[in-house]
Amino acid sequence: MILVTGISGALGGLVFQGLTAIDGLDAVGGTRAGGTARRIDFDDPASLAEGFAGVDVLVFVSAGYAEDDVVLARHGAVVDAAARAGIRHVIYTSLAGSGELMTIALPHRWTESRLAEAPFDVTILRNGLYAEVPAGLAAAGAGSAVETGVFAAALGEGRVSVVAKQDLADVAVRVAAEVERDLAAHGSSRHAGQVYELEGVTAIGGREIAEVLAEALGRQVAYQDIPLSGMRAALAGSGLEPYQVTHTISLFSNAKAGLLEARSSDLPALLAAEPRPVMEAVAEAARAGYRSQSVTAVRAG
Ligand SMILES: NC(=O)c1ccc[n+]([C@@H]2O[C@H](COP(=O)([O-])OP(=O)(O)OC[C@H]3O[C@@H](n4cnc5c(N)ncnc54)[C@H](OP(=O)(O)O)[C@@H]3O)[C@@H](O)[C@H]2O)c1
Repeated sequence: MILVTGISGALGGLVFQGLTAIDGLDAVGGTRAGGTARRIDFDDPASLAEGFAGVDVLVFVSAGYAEDDVVLARHGAVVDAAARAGIRHVIYTSLAGSGELMTIALPHRWTESRLAEAPFDVTILRNGLYAEVPAGLAAAGAGSAVETGVFAAALGEGRVSVVAKQDLADVAVRVAAEVERDLAAHGSSRHAGQVYELEGVTAIGGREIAEVLAEALGRQVAYQDIPLSGMRAALAGSGLEPYQVTHTISLFSNAKAGLLEARSSDLPALLAAEPRPVMEAVAEAARAGYRSQSVTAVRAG
C-alpha cells in the first residue's frame, strides 16, 4: 500500500489524485485534516504510528512552511516513525541542486541525510522551484507596471529555472507506482538509492517577466533591478513571518548570483510527455494581478 502525506496541499493532492487514477493500485492519503483520509500530522508522532500501519511505500511530501528547527523535528519524526512501522521504501520530495545555497536547502539536505541512515530504501525527488515563484512576482508587479512602465525586482540578471507542479506530481506518481510494483515483483525497486534532479527546463528572469507583463498589459514595461537592501525593506512591511523574509531574501540573493539557473535536469526523462510550458502560467498571473489591482482601484475610487 502507498501512503501520500499532505494531500490537502497542492503537490500532495495532485500526487494522490494521480495514484488513485491508476487501476489496481492501493493508495491512501494522509493529511492533518483527517476526515476520510488517514490523519497524518508530523507534529504529532502518535498520528504517525497509527497512520503508517500497513504502508509499504511512503510518499513523504515535505512540510517546509515553518522555522528550520520545527521542520527538522517534523521530518525527523517521520523518518523515525517510518522505520518503526516497517515501511519498505520512502520517496521524499526535496529541493533541486540549483537551490543548494538557498536557506530552504538546509532542512531538505538534513532530511536526505536522515533518510540515508534509515533501514528502508529511499528515492529522493529533488524538485525544482515552482512556476508560482515568477508567477507571484508578475502578479505582484502588475499594478505598478501599469502605472510606471517598470517592473522592479531584486533578480539582477539572474534567471530562475522553474517547473509546473503537475510535472513534479506526474514524476512522483510514476516513481511511487513503479516502486510499489517492483516491491511486489522483486522485493526491491529500480528507484532505490536514486536521487532525481527535477529542475525546470525553462529559466525566467526579470527581463522575461517584464516582457510577459508588457504583453499581458498591452504597454511597454522595462525591467529594473533593485538592491537586496531595497527588497528587504519592502518585505519588512509585507506581513510575512520573519523566517519567510529570510527565505525570500535568500531566493533573490541566489538569483542575483546566477545560481538558480539549472544546467541539466532528469525531468524530461521521467515524464511521458514534454515538460509543461510555464510562461503561460506567469502571463495568467500577470493578468490576474492586474485585474485584482484594477478592482481595488475602482473600489477605492
Ligand atoms: N519547490 C518549490 O518551489 C517549493 C516552494 C514552496 C514550498 N515547497 C515545499 O513543497 C511542499 C509542498 O508544496 P505545496 O505547494 O503542495 O504546499 P502547500 O499547498 O502549501 O501545502 C503545504 C503542505 O505541507 C503539509 N504540512 C504542513 N504542516 C504539516 C504537518 N505538521 N504535518 C504534515 N504535513 C504538513 C500540508 O499537509 P496537509 O495540509 O494535508 O496536512 C501540505 O501538504 C511544501 O510543504 C514545502 O515544503 C517547495
